[in-house]
Amino acid sequence: MNLLVKNIKQLVQAETTPVSAVAGKAMGSLPCVEQAWLHVRDGRIKDFGAMPVPDEVLKQMPPDTEIIEADGRLVMPCWADAHTHMVFARSREDEFVDRVRGLSYEEIARRGGGILNSAKRLRETDEDELYESASARVREVMATGTGSLEIKSGYGLSFESELKMLRVARRLRENHDMIIRTTFLGAHAIPAEFRENRRAYIDLVIGEMLPRVAEEKLADFADVFCERGYFSRGETEEILAAAAALGLKPKVHANQLSNSGGVQAGVTVGAWSVEHLEYIGKEEIDCLKDSGTMPVLLPGAAFFLDMPCAPARSLIDAGLPVGMASDYNPGSCPSGNMNFMVALLCIQYKMTPEEAINAATINGARAMDAASETGSIARGKRADFFISRPIPSYNYIPYAYTSNPVERVFIGGREQQISK
Ligand code: NIG
Ligand code: FE
Repeated sequence: MNLLVKNIKQLVQAETTPVSAVAGKAMGSLPCVEQAWLHVRDGRIKDFGAMPVPDEVLKQMPPDTEIIEADGRLVMPCWADAHTHMVFARSREDEFVDRVRGLSYEEIARRGGGILNSAKRLRETDEDELYESASARVREVMATGTGSLEIKSGYGLSFESELKMLRVARRLRENHDMIIRTTFLGAHAIPAEFRENRRAYIDLVIGEMLPRVAEEKLADFADVFCERGYFSRGETEEILAAAAALGLKPKVHANQLSNSGGVQAGVTVGAWSVEHLEYIGKEEIDCLKDSGTMPVLLPGAAFFLDMPCAPARSLIDAGLPVGMASDYNPGSCPSGNMNFMVALLCIQYKMTPEEAINAATINGARAMDAASETGSIARGKRADFFISRPIPSYNYIPYAYTSNPVERVFIGGREQQISK
């Protein structure tokens, strides 16, 4: 895990003074070194600079250092995908066709489809099978440049099945080089058997699931889907306050389908992030200012459900740090391709490539409390980066929005086997 990458056309997101997030106007700049080299030692970024490689670096290099000729390619930090539901049992293309024919996401959910459909399938699927399919998804997203991930539960919706999902996510973490954060999302929907007694389900989440998740250290975060038909603002605050008391950092699925109060709930409980934000206005944006809660956009879900775009420009103009993630899941975004998500931010949200790349790297890392470890090329951080194919510039990534710009992926300094 000792590497020297030479003749890099452009080393992107190379920070001399590492920051934990980039906010407002600053999102428009991306620090880069032209004609660069990058030195990795013991899986971490040791140093970088402009060619030629200084003699001291060459002299101090351990003899087993692998020399890589980047030969005009870019080197970028891996994408940090801070919101996924990658553990699931089955795809939902039948519901997709129902939507093509005119049903809405909420109508499908009211008929027992949506999250409850995934919960039914997940309960019938054993842990090993879930692990194998999720592991294939991890490899899939690695091939498009993702180098750190957050994975949620939320398709179990029972004590046993929620724990089963989190164990699968933990096993993924043990068996892969990448940082994988896990999130307990027991409050994703009210399961069918509690439809007439939602309070009893909330009591189960707070009284039994959360304490066990915390005791077994199965999750870093807790999340709630705060939305009409799912969990109210008051319920969200109650569940997340209980989670925070057990040491789980709060997050909210907020304002995806309506002005649900999810942002306010998140800020009230000191949430790490609020995510989705299709239905926010001045009130929510004012509430986020000075709050320490990060707004995170999920452009793939808005695209796939044909929803309005979150007001990215207003968030940036308000001086906020905007993060972005894929939301990879079988219902609202069956893709974890972060290159495509960057393209959506540029094309539909009118973010510049610099802003979109900041959202998908350092700010994504911040959204899962991993910015001190990954999300940029900085001395001492993990060597989580990809070498591009021969492309003219990083602007080409959102421009050529179905081409994979990624040629080789290194996570913790170790080259990953990716399908080409
Ligand atoms: O982030 N909105 C809630 N949860 C997921 C979708 C879940 C599903 O439809 O399976 C989301 O969009
Ligand atoms: Fe989600």
